[in-house]
Amino acid sequence: MISLQSTHALLDTADTAFGRDVLFGLSQPQKQVPCTWLYDHRGAELFEDITLLPEYYPTRAEVRILERSASLMAHFAGPQATLVEFGSGSSRKTPLLLSALESPAAYVPIDISAQVLLESVVGLQGRFPHIRMNPLVADFHKLKRLPGMKSAGRRLGFFPGSTVGNCGPEEAVDLLGKFARMLGPDALLAVGADATQDPRLLLPAYDDSRGVTAAFNHNLLWRINRELAGTFDDVGFRHEARYDAVRQRVEMHLVSRHAQRVQVLGHEFRFARGESIHTESSYKFGPIKFQALAKRAGWTPLALWMDDASRFTVYLFERSF
Ligand code: TRP
Repeated sequence: MISLQSTHALLDTADTAFGRDVLFGLSQPQKQVPCTWLYDHRGAELFEDITLLPEYYPTRAEVRILERSASLMAHFAGPQATLVEFGSGSSRKTPLLLSALESPAAYVPIDISAQVLLESVVGLQGRFPHIRMNPLVADFHKLKRLPGMKSAGRRLGFFPGSTVGNCGPEEAVDLLGKFARMLGPDALLAVGADATQDPRLLLPAYDDSRGVTAAFNHNLLWRINRELAGTFDDVGFRHEARYDAVRQRVEMHLVSRHAQRVQVLGHEFRFARGESIHTESSYKFGPIKFQALAKRAGWTPLALWMDDASRFTVYLFERSF
């Protein structure tokens, strides 16, 4: 364990944001790494595999909702809208909106993994040859403004996949507020959020029988080893999903199987047996709570849709200030 005093000196040795985040996170009493670092190319591929798992219900639920709601969203957006997707990944849900919109002006997918972004844009351009595609490689949490896109139509932000749940409530307000400023006046925002509270459904979705989610979580250790001269022993850690009913969130951890020491960028970190790195949270927001958060961020609710089992919700908002 390193002391907080030495944290400053320690951070100086890391010249990348990834290095800084990992050194800082591993020095906290509850070791943690921000979840965006899970998504290198391999991580993004593994996440795609997660979305196809029988246990991972959110993707299927959201696709069903979008099939039913896309035409009404398109009606609100009107002609020549620009669709801006935050954390687009494989853009698997995008065609549902693009084909519903009336002569959309452009599609602006934003993702942290350049390779996944480009692959998906190439695929979409083949299917929608007349729509201008402006992919942006960026971490949407850090983005300040969108590159100038002049268009007569409205901007429709699209934030599916319950990615908003990977933020806590206060962070979600910040992020949705940032999207409001980025998208500009008169914008719309479609957001997907998981409302499931039953741990019997939640835990398998985050700890599947084939071990894909475990591999996705472990990929972070490989990435640290590769990019930050880490010495993590992959089998020395096990994947664990926990549900915190009070905070209404699933947590993903990598739990040390025994006492061990690990080096990262020349710094040593100690793990007690059973000590974990917290790698991700997935908050579950019910509609009342989520609409209240969005209102604080400057969004007026226009509509919401749920799947038949009332597990997942897609919201449509309009900018209110
Ligand atoms: N936004 C997704 C969710 O919270 C991300 C996710 C799904 C995820 N499964 C995961 C993140 C497993 C980390 C590990 O549902």
